Amino acid sequence: MSIDLKTAEEIERMRVAGRLASEVLDYIEPFVKPGVTTEALDQLCHDYMVNVQGTVPAPLNYAPPGYSPYPKSICTSINHQVCHGVPGEKALKKGDIVNIDITVIKDGFHGDTSRMFQVGGSVSILAKRLCQITYECMWLGIAAVKPGTRLGDIGAVIQAHAESNGFSVVREFCGHGIGRKFHEDPQVLHYGRPGTGMVLQPGMTFTIEPMINAGKAAISELPDGWTIVTKDRSLSAQWEHTILVTEQGVEVLTVSDGTPAMPELVAGRLA
Ligand code: MF3
Ligand code: CO
Ligand code: CO
Repeated sequence: MSIDLKTAEEIERMRVAGRLASEVLDYIEPFVKPGVTTEALDQLCHDYMVNVQGTVPAPLNYAPPGYSPYPKSICTSINHQVCHGVPGEKALKKGDIVNIDITVIKDGFHGDTSRMFQVGGSVSILAKRLCQITYECMWLGIAAVKPGTRLGDIGAVIQAHAESNGFSVVREFCGHGIGRKFHEDPQVLHYGRPGTGMVLQPGMTFTIEPMINAGKAAISELPDGWTIVTKDRSLSAQWEHTILVTEQGVEVLTVSDGTPAMPELVAGRLA
């Protein structure tokens, strides 16, 4: 496995791509309301990326081996959808939870980030708790990042927090190296054993993007060939940031004015 360590100049371009990806989420947030279709959200994001930012929506026509080209510019995963939800004509309704996942390419580099949105308030207590615990899982993973940390340490803290709260970690999808390519080595699993796996080094850039289910971990794929759902139809949540390993620890690259604050749980540890 060869890991592409980014140069100072490449890191600067990753910061720009990361900020732009996050700004698409800032832009779309006010549109995430009951009655809007995910297709409309896709169109709005597409036009913002292409016409306002001058970025390329990385998902559009993305076709990893064994997949048909992805037909849209963003992913929208609602309720029991785990990830890669394909936008369509179904409207969001009050009480839904939806993950919007944005990946842009700017100046040859990728920025990849996603957030959960609660549609129209009045979301169930379980759904709120799932979104919050998943957010904490992502940030516990981020807070573990520094030179010398091993990939298994990241997976272990995420898994421990999810499972101690009665939730489960999706196994089939993981975080990933990112840079000139959308998905690079290494694979960043959201479960694992401390002290195992690759040792982190300054200059590595990768995503942390735990998918956490309220029920069992098992998933299935819909006939569209992309949308992943929980097998037991339980709720699922996901958050994602793109990060850089620095000499001192970690820098989150997917930040913008609208980035939610880090949770209390890690705020003391990461200044
Ligand atoms: N953005 C997703 C990730 O975090 C990948 C989506 S691939 C797509 O890795 F083709 F579905 F867009
Ligand atoms: Co990703
Ligand atoms: Co993503």
